Amino acid sequence: MGLASIWGFALVGIEAVPVRVEAHARSGLPGVTIVGLPGVAVREARERVRSGAASSGLPLPSRRITINLSPGDVPKDGPGFDLPVALATLAACGHIPMECVRDVGAVGELSLEGVVRPTRGMLSVAEAAGRAGVNLLITPIEGLPAASEVSAVPVVAVRSLGEAVLVVKDPCWRAQMAERGRRWLAGRRTCPVGSETPDLSDVVGQRHAKRALEIAAAGGHHLLMIGSPGAGKTMLARRLAGILPPLSREEAVDVTRVWNAAGLQGTLVGLIRERPFRSPHHTASRAALVGGGAMLRPGELSLAHHGVLFLDELPEFARDALEALRQPLEESRVVISRRAGTSIFPAECTLVAAMNPCPCGYLGHPEKACRCPGSAVARYRARISGPLLDRIDALIEVPPLTLAALDAVGAVESSATVRARVTAARIFRRERLDRHSVPSRHALEDCSLLTEEARGLLRQALVHEGLSGRAYARIVNLARTIADLDNVLPVAAEHVAEALSLRLDSRRVDFA
Ligand SMILES: Nc1ncnc2c1ncn2[C@@H]1O[C@H](COP(=O)(O)OP(=O)(O)OP(=O)(O)O)[C@@H](O)[C@H]1O
Ligand SMILES: [Mg+2]
Ligand SMILES: [Zn+2]
Repeated sequence: MGLASIWGFALVGIEAVPVRVEAHARSGLPGVTIVGLPGVAVREARERVRSGAASSGLPLPSRRITINLSPGDVPKDGPGFDLPVALATLAACGHIPMECVRDVGAVGELSLEGVVRPTRGMLSVAEAAGRAGVNLLITPIEGLPAASEVSAVPVVAVRSLGEAVLVVKDPCWRAQMAERGRRWLAGRRTCPVGSETPDLSDVVGQRHAKRALEIAAAGGHHLLMIGSPGAGKTMLARRLAGILPPLSREEAVDVTRVWNAAGLQGTLVGLIRERPFRSPHHTASRAALVGGGAMLRPGELSLAHHGVLFLDELPEFARDALEALRQPLEESRVVISRRAGTSIFPAECTLVAAMNPCPCGYLGHPEKACRCPGSAVARYRARISGPLLDRIDALIEVPPLTLAALDAVGAVESSATVRARVTAARIFRRERLDRHSVPSRHALEDCSLLTEEARGLLRQALVHEGLSGRAYARIVNLARTIADLDNVLPVAAEHVAEALSLRLDSRRVDFA
């Protein structure tokens, strides 16, 4: 009987914070009290721990048990505290020597029968365990693939509270369970990489749209496609992730951290190796898109981190949801402020949006007639505000497929071919930035990197097209990316001209 402590982990946004879980058992009215800002799920741990312990043959004695979670100012939520609370309580009651749990970290939900179940945020927990300096991390078996990818400390997976007790008490059991985990990891089935991404070679014609996808991929530019129903917008957008370079290991860890925290990842997967492609429905709420909600979960923008966010039927999204995208698209991250503090979710994704030119879809169609009254077209367009459009670098029309394009037999490029050019352009850009140490991307307008003719063309566009300052900067950035695809340093007039062709369609279809 006495005071025992162990490490648990609170998930705050996508990061895990080490939490000291202390259990004190003394005589008095039997019961369990949890203090230190426990959320609802953590308070419920009392019932699961009592019943899980009894089912494991380790009934809690009739004592007064107080659990303290510190630091006291971090809100603690989720069922992941069940396992550390149970182990600390068992140690305080004399079932486990206290020194056996002192430097241990544990995470997992308990069922009433004492089975250990997975919880969200395993990758972040494994990172936090390293920071806390634990000498052993105990996780549910489903947490093992992600945790073992990043953990700086030994990770042992358990299936039940009974196993967890054996692991902390007995080095032989610990070694045996660790070996079982290694065997399980080695034997698990993983999906072949690239099995699901559709290939660009399926798309007939649409040279302009394919080129726009390539430029968007090379420079991470956001893209809006406007076209009639069946023109192939959705088909094209689905192929963007497949022409992005493969994820680096560091990027894969970043993506997995977010997906883990959202509780979305399959249990067999360690690191997510493919670029995410997220395609939320237009009924998605603001919180579903940018993140937040009661449990402070990452939204679609962050699930698309290092990948593609596809918003099909853009004008159908709720106005407040679209407005909420503006800041994150500019900053590549989502900042959510709460009373308890501020959470930052990464959101470095390429946005691809698609829409019809008008509500009926056939405005400007070569054969079919538009049936929309003029005011309806204006209202439809107005649903996408100017400031959001200003953050979309490239804006293209996707025309209906013509018979000529169908009949044309030419070499059709595969996603792999385009991806190779995109990868080369990104390498060129990185080297260029290293060599010329340009402090910010706005400094790309640095005149030394533009030829005389390129500057002349830009000035002309500024005067004749009445570009906003931001639209002007976007064009310079697009031209820079196009030059990177050519692997050349100075931006030439032809690059500026192509960049303008990715913007000026907006005037033809009457966008401001
Ligand atoms: N260029 C193309 N090459 C091959 N197939 C195409 C092409 N364009 C369209 N298709 C075919 O037409 C179907 C419809 O295309 P898609 O759904 O991409 O159109 P959309 O522009 O998104 O239309 P909507 O506005 O109705 O959403 C595709 O599934 C594909 O089978
Ligand atoms: Mg579509
Ligand atoms: Zn119409």
